[in-house]
Amino acid sequence: MAYKGHPEDHPREWIARNQEVETPVDPRRVVQSIEEGNTPPGIVSATIPPPSTALSPQPLDDRPNWFKRAVFYELLVRAFQDGNDDGVGDFPGLIARLDYLQWLGVTCIWLLPFNQSPLCDGGYDVSDYYAVLPEYGTVEDVRRLLDEAHSRGIRVIMDLVMNHTSDQHPWFRDARSSPKSAHRDWYVWSETTERYQDARIIFLDTETSNWTWDEQAGAFFWHRFFSHQPDLNYDNPEVHAAMLDVFRYWLDMGMDGFRLDAVPYLYEREGTNGENLPETHTFLAELRDTVDREYPNRILLCEANQWPEDVIDYFGTPDRPECHMNFHFPLMPRLFMALRREQSAPITEILARTPPLPPGSQWGIFLRNHDELTLEMVTEEERDYMWNEFAPDRRMKLNLGIRRRLAPLLNNSRRQIELFSALLLSLPGTPIIYYGDELGMGDNIFLADRDGVRTPMQWTSDRNGGFSRADFAQLYLPPLMDPIYGYQAVNVEAAQRDESSLLHWLRQYIAVRKAWPAFSEGEFKELYPSNPSVFAFLRVLDGDAVLCVNNLSRSAQPLELDLRRWKGRTPVEMVGGVRFPDIGELPYLLTLAPHGFLWFDLQP
Ligand code: NOJ
Ligand code: CA
Repeated sequence: MAYKGHPEDHPREWIARNQEVETPVDPRRVVQSIEEGNTPPGIVSATIPPPSTALSPQPLDDRPNWFKRAVFYELLVRAFQDGNDDGVGDFPGLIARLDYLQWLGVTCIWLLPFNQSPLCDGGYDVSDYYAVLPEYGTVEDVRRLLDEAHSRGIRVIMDLVMNHTSDQHPWFRDARSSPKSAHRDWYVWSETTERYQDARIIFLDTETSNWTWDEQAGAFFWHRFFSHQPDLNYDNPEVHAAMLDVFRYWLDMGMDGFRLDAVPYLYEREGTNGENLPETHTFLAELRDTVDREYPNRILLCEANQWPEDVIDYFGTPDRPECHMNFHFPLMPRLFMALRREQSAPITEILARTPPLPPGSQWGIFLRNHDELTLEMVTEEERDYMWNEFAPDRRMKLNLGIRRRLAPLLNNSRRQIELFSALLLSLPGTPIIYYGDELGMGDNIFLADRDGVRTPMQWTSDRNGGFSRADFAQLYLPPLMDPIYGYQAVNVEAAQRDESSLLHWLRQYIAVRKAWPAFSEGEFKELYPSNPSVFAFLRVLDGDAVLCVNNLSRSAQPLELDLRRWKGRTPVEMVGGVRFPDIGELPYLLTLAPHGFLWFDLQP
């Protein structure tokens, strides 16, 4: 039995072939298949060995809309793997771990900023867009990463910080040196702090104003984030040209796209809150046009932490497209709210408020990321609720959010993590996994700022969790060592050996998601069971229909669905291949375990 080609090409046959496997399963066949880079659903969890041997090369998905079918994985080079034992993760280390990502089923890596930077904001303070931070490696290493990732069927996108630079950037050094300097007008200056008073402060815990006095310049400069991150002046066409050149440089190297940082704040206008201004959209449309014309099939993923009705504008229109993807920020906290309230309403309401996307666009769905769990897109009452429920210790709060990882937020409950992961993989959009969450890694709230969720990846139970052979004191951050989430308890090696680990479970569900294109491109149709604890929906693509039912409560729940439209079809549970009773005229009855969920293929 050979599992060649893209499972997406013929998902039905692919799955059928795998479900036809005779019992007992011949483990050698499964091993052989997995060594070929395939992930047969239904039998994976029982027989898969750790990926001790190299996986075979995997073709890149070159079809347009590849990003809709992708599974993204967000990582910090600094945190992933130290390749030269100096205590800091680097590109050679990451390259050495690509087999792991291929094994997991990841098809696109999102690299957090790796450019030259004083690292006062995790690299979101760039001092040279063309250089790689020396601790991470060289430009040549990035090139090698792209080649190595591509040969494993994995694309790579990078963070591009367009809104601001570090105050150490030569542009800003020149700008502050004299009013007549060539770069003076590349930044936003003022003699008073009176301008743009309607713009909110984002980093509330550290900043008191969006203006900071610069002694050398003899003027205030504008910044939406830290006071060491002066905003670039997008009213100056030279800034556009300089930024477009940065894009071209990395695209020429083979970068598959960008996560565009802090997009809503590019322009400032008096009397506005300085977010989502029309000028910003004009610039993004120009950027998209340039990328499409010069580098087809690359993507722009926009970071606009805004309400759905505002985010939608960042996709642009069919005539004037902007970004291919946007994170669905408002959805994320509502998943947590729905879970704690044991009601689907918060999810249902925000999805009902989410406008349809223009063709060729996709949401980016995430549960956690490298920042605090942001509570900007909730009401004040909801924010208080979230803080009460999920941030019992003051140290867990940061700005308008909660600086914790997924597993601790969910009380390390395997059922809840599985339920959330199932939602991540089935809601309309492309899933974005934050490194370590596939293991159930924890956090360290005693570290400053957002460092608590950026600790070293846990590979083994060896010294420093297998992340680095440097002395402990030399590590960029201490790895977790507590008895629950520490690397001795939670690490890749152990999770790969343990066939019932979260890691194996997630890998299997990633494979299932990839085998049914309805998950990535299908229409989302919510069903409204009368039980308020159950969130149920269909994903429909051409003749395919996938049914997902999710129990948000801690108790078992019954549900009744009106599935008359699908009368005559047979729901087949996707992982086990078990056929459920045919759909008829009567309400379709199901039962879900506490925090349980089920995925069905509605087969004709
Ligand atoms: C958003 C990034 O995710 C965050 O980490 C950073 O601090 C700000 N933008 C400023 O660049
Ligand atoms: Ca290193």
